Amino acid sequence: MNQDYIKPDNWSIIEEGFDVERVKSSESLFSIGNGAMGQRANFEEKYSGETFQGSYIAGIYYPDKTKVGWWKNGYPKYFAKVLNAPNWIGINIEINEEAFDLNSCTEVKNFHRELNMKEGWYNRSFEATLKNGTEIAVNVRRFLSLNLDEVGIIKYEITPLNKDAKILYKPYLDAGVTNEDANWEEKFWEPLEVKKGTNEAYVTAQTYKTHFKVTTFMHNSIFANNENINISPSTIDSSSDKVEYTYGVIIAKGQTSSIQKIGGYTVSLNHTNTLAAAEKAIKEALSKGYDQLLQEQIEAWAKVWEMSDITIDGDVKAQQGIRFNIFQLNQTYSGKDNRLNIGPKGFTGEKYGGSTYWDTEAYCIPFYMATKDQQVARNLLTYRYNQLDKAIENAKENLGFKDGAALYPMVTMNGEECHNEWEITHEEIHRNGAIAFAIFNYNRYTGDYSYIPEKGLEVLIGIARFWHQRASFSTAKNQYVILGVTGPNEYENNINNNFYTNYVAKWCIDYAEEQIIKVAAEYPADHKRIIEKVQLTENEIQEWKKVANNMYFPFSEEHNVYLQQDGFLDKDLVPVKDLDRSQRPINQKWSWDRVLRSPYIKQADVLQCFYFFEEHFTKEELLRNFEFYESFTVHESSLSPCVHSIQAAALDKMDMAYTFYLRTSRLDLDDYNKEVEEGCHITSMAGTWMSIVEGFGGMRVKNDTLHFSPKIPKEWTGYSFKINFRNQILKVSINHDETTFSVDGDADLAIVVNGQTVVATKYAIA
Ligand code: BGC
Repeated sequence: MNQDYIKPDNWSIIEEGFDVERVKSSESLFSIGNGAMGQRANFEEKYSGETFQGSYIAGIYYPDKTKVGWWKNGYPKYFAKVLNAPNWIGINIEINEEAFDLNSCTEVKNFHRELNMKEGWYNRSFEATLKNGTEIAVNVRRFLSLNLDEVGIIKYEITPLNKDAKILYKPYLDAGVTNEDANWEEKFWEPLEVKKGTNEAYVTAQTYKTHFKVTTFMHNSIFANNENINISPSTIDSSSDKVEYTYGVIIAKGQTSSIQKIGGYTVSLNHTNTLAAAEKAIKEALSKGYDQLLQEQIEAWAKVWEMSDITIDGDVKAQQGIRFNIFQLNQTYSGKDNRLNIGPKGFTGEKYGGSTYWDTEAYCIPFYMATKDQQVARNLLTYRYNQLDKAIENAKENLGFKDGAALYPMVTMNGEECHNEWEITHEEIHRNGAIAFAIFNYNRYTGDYSYIPEKGLEVLIGIARFWHQRASFSTAKNQYVILGVTGPNEYENNINNNFYTNYVAKWCIDYAEEQIIKVAAEYPADHKRIIEKVQLTENEIQEWKKVANNMYFPFSEEHNVYLQQDGFLDKDLVPVKDLDRSQRPINQKWSWDRVLRSPYIKQADVLQCFYFFEEHFTKEELLRNFEFYESFTVHESSLSPCVHSIQAAALDKMDMAYTFYLRTSRLDLDDYNKEVEEGCHITSMAGTWMSIVEGFGGMRVKNDTLHFSPKIPKEWTGYSFKINFRNQILKVSINHDETTFSVDGDADLAIVVNGQTVVATKYAIA
């Protein structure tokens, strides 16, 4: 049974009833973020039950020294972690001399959480009876401003219900925080300075080793029945890394008192004087005030939704699912800053360290390309270009490659590899393919070729060099092979000739060569600059081509499918449907050797290849390979169902496509993989978007033109989405009878629908 407590709603994520067992899961699901910082839905007040504290600042990380059982050459020295940042949301509360703690109340009623995705705020309300008999009603709202992205605001309201109450509000800042996941129990934050003002305070701390300086700030105002009563703290407690202000009020039964706390971070990535920047941030937020900040938040989110919303009619759970995904993607990455990227858990947990994976190129770029200005996707590509030298160094120093061969890291924060399991770090080299594919995909979608002569070609050359050196010649096969790899399916390690890896390797070399020729012809100055810089000769290109032209691809005559790897058919091929449900998820139930020996596939692998290179294969090939591999796939990676949903839709298996869609879009809301308390799967959320636009909508770009083959699941009455295609906004609405297309603005757009060219104008055409 999957989790099923989130109430269906078109625009909000809603939880009703207080259940201590769900607190950690809800902390993930109700997380908020604004691209620059993020916050799990931790309670502001003390909570003595099970909780997972998480506040995160984009780009602020710590290199946690590697810890492994058995050191292997080539392991990176550290795993970079986006840190649990100083706590700015904390407000301890005392009511009639008792510390308020939901875990110790005698009763909690009408507990209600809402994450309002349309307007970008999170609200929690409930009634509670304290041990001392005081009954209170509480309503807390907080949001992280999209416009002032260093600022968050909390409005915490308390109404005593059965007697007058003496309330102490104790807002605090605390830099004495730790990560749950820390290899050596080290402290990550070094406190530098605590500054106390009248109602505001600042705690400046810096990360050890990386020396990122962060000023965490707060400003507090106390209200009675919505009137600011302008009181100052009665006491101030502070230590080297914490400051707490105490404000006391007496409030009559039935009256409401509240605290408004403005807080957030200013960081040395953006300011030389973080303290002065924090003072400025408070001033700016105060000059607007809570109501205006909220109004601006609503307007800023309306703008985001204007471009990126997908509507689904007749299926509230599907609608809620897709909006949750789009909301989280926008909370995680705004595209404003090319030093940042998209961690697989975004700002919702520590797992994966907040670092960059191949997920960005393989899954996220299409979403950002189609729903934002194309500069955003270009920034994501530039991020890798800026790390090319490190990728070359990584291949050379850690793995013994030479002459400018580049291996991008499996996991990185600054370009250095920081993943340390040999079967992934050293063997999951297919990631290089996704990075090259993203360059192709960006050019295919945006038509902006300039990226390639400016930056992309150097990346493609480094990657082609890597594949050329990594392949080896098999005299037995008389072909080039790639030995000892892990494909996207991480449930097989150290295998030979992973079809996906071999295919993408050949493609990378071919594509690099094509681009070298094109840049030489069309951008000779860039060609000269690059060739001189990387010292590439015609002879070397000919050597690459020998590998690409004679690459081995494992194939099964018996099943008429490409083989995931040389040894796949030696396995006991029992399909997933015959595997007892009690054994799943296998990665939580079985020893690793058993997982490896099994035929079960964690995520699309051969099918990932069919997804990237669909036009290289026939529909019959796709059908055969889909049916064969889908039957062994357990989808224990969040990145799996979306690729299957898109391919099922292309094969007219709409029921299956819909089931996979629900699984991808509600993976976290319904906690399919039983791990949402660790955080949400942000990168796969972009795959959910692809499932609708590329899956059901059938969108492809061929020869500079958008193609669609619209389909609709029978469970829906209609759906719609918008696409920014080469600076024209196309709106697509699909129901069971017809599809309508329209463009914003006066310029028409020729598109191909089910093989027929039609012209979309500003007046909807069906
Ligand atoms: C997947 C990888 C992915 C990583 C981060 C793993 O479980 O197998 O493909 O890059 O998660 O999302």
